[in-house]
Amino acid sequence: MRAHESGFGCLPLYRAAHPVHSRHALVPLESQSRRGLHAYDERALLRLVRSVDPGRAPALWEHAGAAYLANRSPLALRAVAALRRDEAVSLHLTGLGLPVDIPLPPTPYQGQSDPGSITLALLKLFGLVRHMGARVVAYTNEDSGRIYRDVAARQGAHDEVSSQGWAQRLPWHTDCAYRPLTDFDQGTGFADGSPAPRWLVFCVVHDKPAVPLTLVPATGVIARLAPQHRDALLQPEFDITSPQSFGPQLHSQGLPLLLSDGRGGHFVRLNELGCTGRTARAREGLAALSEALQDPPGLQRIALRTGDMIVLDNWRAFHMRSAYTPNWNGRDRWLVRVYAVPHEVRGLPVRKGMERIWK
Ligand SMILES: [Fe+2]
Repeated sequence: MRAHESGFGCLPLYRAAHPVHSRHALVPLESQSRRGLHAYDERALLRLVRSVDPGRAPALWEHAGAAYLANRSPLALRAVAALRRDEAVSLHLTGLGLPVDIPLPPTPYQGQSDPGSITLALLKLFGLVRHMGARVVAYTNEDSGRIYRDVAARQGAHDEVSSQGWAQRLPWHTDCAYRPLTDFDQGTGFADGSPAPRWLVFCVVHDKPAVPLTLVPATGVIARLAPQHRDALLQPEFDITSPQSFGPQLHSQGLPLLLSDGRGGHFVRLNELGCTGRTARAREGLAALSEALQDPPGLQRIALRTGDMIVLDNWRAFHMRSAYTPNWNGRDRWLVRVYAVPHEVRGLPVRKGMERIWK
């Protein structure tokens, strides 16, 4: 795609520096010509994105963010290549030294921040997704189709089992487990048609209270299961309800929890709170999976620091969060999160002109 096709209009300085026109662009980032780097006009780029809501022009934000990261932190992007090669289920970019939004805005206790207050966080997120060879999407039944979510304590959500609740432990899950994962997903009773996000991509705004992002690659967990339990999880014999952040609650029926990825591995779905087996073998398989997740191999507890970015492969890893107590001092733990999917994964746009907001 040429820059002018993505909504940049006439910004020749920006266009000249654009680093990600092809899949091969990750390789030569460090060898960008000086002429190209000089042509990069960050002030113009920031002025441009601040004039457009990210939900209305996500492609523009992705292009702008990709240029921002390429010029500000090209070395950090080397790590993204591992994700693109499917060799990593998570990525933690820390100590980048990138600018953060100043002043750091207060935690959005009402549940939705002003995107204008977190321009840099959003720009980095959208840019990272672009470098992953992916695109940002959202769902109409979460946050009314907002293109990003504020993962932060919300007033009144004390016992909500979602990323905006805090008093309850979020048990092991994958996001949007009640949705299909891929075109070859064998489930038949999906309550929603658009695929679950492949990646969850976070940028940390406030990092206290220190509650780690906890995840475990699915491969080691599955390897611990007895063959009969693994086989049971491959059968379309599970019902899954949508999470509390997606309302009203929906029920998908007759889904497998494990899917072959076509390469000898598995994609996974799980919502420990909202998942039930329809048969005895399914219930036994689910119980075995929950047991394996009690002390799982390869557990990662990612300590979060302001400015960090984290990518999690939602089809290849389970994640959870401990309960915690906010300080209500305006600087409580706050992660900005976007969902991302590979370009080849298709969803059902809510309407024409809003191709990134899926039903
Ligand atoms: Fe989650």
